[in-house]
Amino acid sequence: MNTDSKQPHSNRQEVQEHLENNLMIDTLAGRATEGPPVWLMRQAGRYLPEYQEIRAKFPDFMSLCRNTDATTEVALQPLRRFNLDAAIVFSDILTIADSLDLGLNFVKGSGPILSHPISSPKDITNLPFSEAIERLEYVYDAVKSLRSALGKRLPIIGFSGSPWTQSCYMISGRSEALFHTAKRFAYTHPVATTALINELSSITAQYLLKQYQAGADILFVIDTWGGILSDTQFQSYSANALSDICASLKRMKCPAPVMFFSKGLTEKRIRMLKNITNLRCIGVDWTANIESLQACFPDLVFQGNLDPSILHAGPIATQQHTHYMLNKVNKNTHYIAGLGHGVLPETPIESVHAFVDQVRHYNIKDNNSN
Ligand code: CP3
Repeated sequence: MNTDSKQPHSNRQEVQEHLENNLMIDTLAGRATEGPPVWLMRQAGRYLPEYQEIRAKFPDFMSLCRNTDATTEVALQPLRRFNLDAAIVFSDILTIADSLDLGLNFVKGSGPILSHPISSPKDITNLPFSEAIERLEYVYDAVKSLRSALGKRLPIIGFSGSPWTQSCYMISGRSEALFHTAKRFAYTHPVATTALINELSSITAQYLLKQYQAGADILFVIDTWGGILSDTQFQSYSANALSDICASLKRMKCPAPVMFFSKGLTEKRIRMLKNITNLRCIGVDWTANIESLQACFPDLVFQGNLDPSILHAGPIATQQHTHYMLNKVNKNTHYIAGLGHGVLPETPIESVHAFVDQVRHYNIKDNNSN
């Protein structure tokens, strides 16, 4: 496995080497560990009453995201309740879209609405791409503040939406079940779509680098809507974009390991990603056959796989399904325990406890010798 992350780089690297909890970093580097680390996509947020309390103080979601004290507090909340191995900076995948003047608003009951979505190729050329990185200073401040609140306790995950997933919202202007508006645009204007993906890849790489420089140890690219693409489009819009982002990070001498999540990943799609050397970890949803993917790609770390809906069925069901999932996972390759997508609103807190505790109590060595 590639060991770039061990090379001396800067003060940032020293922090990483002195973290009190190195389970995530060790797992991502392919080092042997006692058992799998655990964290959850969207571990902070609406299922926690203490999040709702902070959220109620802000007129809209983006105001919360711009308030450093509030983002630090809500990122720490799940860490107080659960024994997790990573913090994730509190932000959103739509911050870049917001920085491009697309009129982002989170409307109660409808999710994100962009009042000036991209509707023609000309709209793309008019976007203020060169301003984006500076306008996102509040996200780097959120990472810095979280690092100083956490000290060396845990690694921090910095993140960005993937260029395609960002484009879905930027073109459709709102959440859609299958983002037909964005797909129609991509089929009608393939050249302009590629130009948009390329611009967003370049911004995303710089955005992730800035989060690394601010204190993030791990960089996560979230491609929630990659699963609605055909294989050919996935190659162009998801895989090539990720490859460009990872190549830029390497060129900019960023040693942080990169994680990638996409829905509906298959062996064929992971083959499109497997030569990206700083890409260490692939997050998969519950439709993926994790054992066979682990067998095909022994050098990659897999993450996730448990259907977040199971947690709605309560702690006992969660415990059983988690146990079953951990039994399936190949113990000889590395694995990060987590969900196959984000924690859903209204998830019972006892189910999250059941999930985390089940991972902790699972004796990977005993199981290995069975
Ligand atoms: O712990 C964490 O992971 C918190 C940080 C985080 C948020 N969103 C906070 C948030 C992260 C990593 C995200 C990712 C995100 N945001 C994704 C990718 C992961 C996924 O779930 O697919 C997507 C597609 C979004 C876009 C988004 N942000 C939508 C569609 C919405 C509205 C509906 C929803 O799912 O929440 C948001 C708002 C949002 N982002 C909230 C939070 C806590 C809720 C807003 C509120 O409290 O009013």
